[in-house]
Amino acid sequence: MNRIAGFTLRSLWLWLILSLPVIASTRVDNPFVGAQGYIDPDYVENVNRSIAQSDTATAEHMRVVANTPTAVWLDSIAAIDGSNGRRSTLEQHLVNATKQAQGNEPVLITVVIYNLPDRDCSAKASNGTLNGLAGLKIYREDFIDRIASLFSDNRFSDLRIVTILEPDSLPNLVTNKSVADCQSAFENGIYTGGIGYALNRFSDIGNVYSYLDIGHSGWLGWDDNRTRTVDLYVDVIKSSGSLHNVHGVATNTSGYSPVEELLLPDADLMIQDLPIKSADFYQYNGMFDERDYANTLKTEFTAAGMPDQFGVLIDTSRNGWGGKNRPTKAKRKASINNYVNAARIDRRPARQNWCNQNGAGVGARPTPNPFNDGTIHAFVWIKPPGESDGTSDSTQTHADAEGKRFDSDCDPQGTTHSGNPTGAIGNAPAAGRWFHQHFDMLVRNAHPPLIK
Ligand code: GLC
Repeated sequence: MNRIAGFTLRSLWLWLILSLPVIASTRVDNPFVGAQGYIDPDYVENVNRSIAQSDTATAEHMRVVANTPTAVWLDSIAAIDGSNGRRSTLEQHLVNATKQAQGNEPVLITVVIYNLPDRDCSAKASNGTLNGLAGLKIYREDFIDRIASLFSDNRFSDLRIVTILEPDSLPNLVTNKSVADCQSAFENGIYTGGIGYALNRFSDIGNVYSYLDIGHSGWLGWDDNRTRTVDLYVDVIKSSGSLHNVHGVATNTSGYSPVEELLLPDADLMIQDLPIKSADFYQYNGMFDERDYANTLKTEFTAAGMPDQFGVLIDTSRNGWGGKNRPTKAKRKASINNYVNAARIDRRPARQNWCNQNGAGVGARPTPNPFNDGTIHAFVWIKPPGESDGTSDSTQTHADAEGKRFDSDCDPQGTTHSGNPTGAIGNAPAAGRWFHQHFDMLVRNAHPPLIK
């Protein structure tokens, strides 16, 4: 009896010891491989509203979009609970995701964590509702802690949960500290403290994979910006307790920068004794596209000590730039500007333009490991195509209940700080709201085409 009990106890210990490292290392290198993406029923409902207003052929293309995985945005505390009756609660999303499982493939749900106090400090369209250090306490306790406790619920342990942390926040600390709100967010440690806290809380949950938003090639691509970016990010990750607390970074969230400027593969191509990166459109930024940016980031982050499996996600939901204005071949032109402007896929007036861009199209479908290189973990649809970037109504100068208001970059008639047209289309509702006209345009300009 004793012997049996002793044996059982020993084997129990052995089992525990052997299984511990297994539990600690359940994260796979690339969570997107071998997983199916979550289809968000709330998003499908929005697309269906557009389908109801469209001709048969367009509707068929829209149906392809409805069947494509998109991220769930937690852009407020209310979003955890479902707000204005238009959203599922986070718990419902997670339950839905478990129900979508087919066969043995785990379901992967992408969740954007977007609620830092004094959010979107260099723009006005999406400021949110939390402020200052008091807001940071609320962010930790009523937002991140609640999300972490849902993520760690046993019912959801078979899901792969990918988090995209706080779009635009750290990038604003790299380049926009001249803006008073960004400077104070920096001095108070609100962004770095909030993100460090979230990373730490999520790190204990073995099926959560955290990626930090890292702007896009047209924002942080310059060598000096990138150096400061990598330093800042590594500091923030360290502050969370371990370099293993992030799985990588996410570029182009809600952005319009192409994956590849296929007709401009060499930024140092010389025309009339100058490299083409000196064109007005590139302003000496040699990172013409997201793929170059991603590859460079991988090299620099691993050199700075990040683990080898560190990877990059690219939001391809709206960077397709198909349609009749898509260039098909580069032509020798007299000047660098003419050459670049005729050959670039990105048709924006300037690369800083971010609001409801005219001429944009849905980009590549979500794809795991698109280049089989262990660098780009996936193309993901982070911004749900069809959701507005900001209102074009110039009378909305006061924040609404969700902290949304008019930014002049969303004025279709306006110009940006750099003096270029905004490139925005009109009739736009507040950021995050369904914008049928933009959706219709994105579907028409999809590249690659939605239906071959
Ligand atoms: C914007 C909005 C946010 C929305 C997101 C995705 O950033 O501010 O509310 O969830 O876009 O559309």
